[in-house]
Amino acid sequence: PGAVAFDFVIVGATGDLTMRKLLPAFYECFRRGQIEKSTKIIGVARSGLSVEDYRAKAHEALKGFVAAASYDDATIQDFLGLVQYVSLDMSDKDADWTGLINLLPTEKGRPRVFYVATAPKLYVPTADAIAHNKLITDSSRIVLEKPIGTDQATAAEINDGVGLYFTEEQIFRIDHYLGKQTVQNILALRFANPILERVWNTDSIAHVQITAAETVGVGKRGPYYDSAGALRDMVQNHLLQVLSLVAMEPPTAFSAMDLRDEKLKILRALKPMSDHDIATDTVRAQYGEGLADGKRVAGYLEDLGAPTSTTETYLAIRAEIRTARWDGVPFYIRTGKRMARKETIVVIQFRPQPWAIFADKPEPSQLVLRIQPDEGVSLSLASKDPASEQYRLRESVLDVDYVKAFNTRYPDSYEDLLMAAVRGDQVLFIRRDEVEASWRWIEPILHGWEKNIRPLETYPAGTQGPASSDQLLARDGFVWKENT
Ligand code: BG6
Repeated sequence: PGAVAFDFVIVGATGDLTMRKLLPAFYECFRRGQIEKSTKIIGVARSGLSVEDYRAKAHEALKGFVAAASYDDATIQDFLGLVQYVSLDMSDKDADWTGLINLLPTEKGRPRVFYVATAPKLYVPTADAIAHNKLITDSSRIVLEKPIGTDQATAAEINDGVGLYFTEEQIFRIDHYLGKQTVQNILALRFANPILERVWNTDSIAHVQITAAETVGVGKRGPYYDSAGALRDMVQNHLLQVLSLVAMEPPTAFSAMDLRDEKLKILRALKPMSDHDIATDTVRAQYGEGLADGKRVAGYLEDLGAPTSTTETYLAIRAEIRTARWDGVPFYIRTGKRMARKETIVVIQFRPQPWAIFADKPEPSQLVLRIQPDEGVSLSLASKDPASEQYRLRESVLDVDYVKAFNTRYPDSYEDLLMAAVRGDQVLFIRRDEVEASWRWIEPILHGWEKNIRPLETYPAGTQGPASSDQLLARDGFVWKENT
């Protein structure tokens, strides 16, 4: 597609997300010729900065976060020319909005996006204030960052509240995992390769694992994180989205409606967790002091600066999807901070050979989707060991490294997402009913944990979580895939 002209208002424009992700992503899109020069990227925040101050801040961020290979002084200067700043509290409808109003062209059909990167409690007042100041045009859209609520009721409040002013077609709930090329590729892999799709069911698949491991601790995000925990922070959104893409039926067309209908069916088919399931099929844990890169690092409570907290920084869950395709196939999810390495993978473990004719029992094949880092896909196969005199079997691996295969850089998630919001394409965004269905499944687990049905454990920083997480799989005869 050629370059587009649009206006993009970032609410909360001095925050970390804007500096680390949004501006660098826009710069890349600009550099690639996707953004026309009359475009306005308007930062709005309460700080009383001048446009020059804000551009200087943006410049610093670009220096820090744009890849060296993409950084070019002249292009950076051109890009900074698109950046504007208005000092305004956009959740206050009675403030003086003229600065913003004067910046916004009134040309019919020109995309206007409001990107709300503030605290979720400000989403509704902000939408209300935008409407009150008559800034919503037919080509306007609003982008909402996660978290959309902290449970079903608060998610519904945000959706209802914003829905008073923007139609569902104008609301773009972002989940940056859907902006990852390798997450999008799950669909290509499944629905453009019949060889895989034909075996993508309980007849051939024994179980599925989704791991999102991080090495970082909570850092400076303690106050937010402590009120959220890993279940709300990673599972309700990112990992349930990944699970839906892995598990969904083929949509009838590649459209936002069809795709989201199918994801929703999976979210609704997740077996609700009873108190008994929560006791046996979930693990919750918090990191204690340990090692990262050989150096001692603090435990969660020390990072948080609080004497007590029962917030989980790690979890493992055994989920089931009640559909014909997935009957009898457990889906294991695990995620955590301060784990041994940063790695997000999906493992599809195939069923074993039913009748072994060889003396060696072949290991069942595994298809590993490497979401990040080392983006790629691999399939393990049993082969005849050429070094053995007898007919021995040995595992070998078919591996595609996407970076090498396509000889291209992997764009950051936000590049695709921002441009999709500008174009008004909702394929990569979350529909209201998806958010609410995810909360419906998550909420009983939250309550069960509050009641301590599954006690909180600790694990040393720099490890893959408590031993009970291994037992969760061992019970079914499986093991977590490590060392990909
Ligand atoms: C965010 C979470 O949504 O996703 C963070 O709030 C987490 O806690 C991050 O670190 C992980 O994203 P990525 O792209 O690094 O896997």
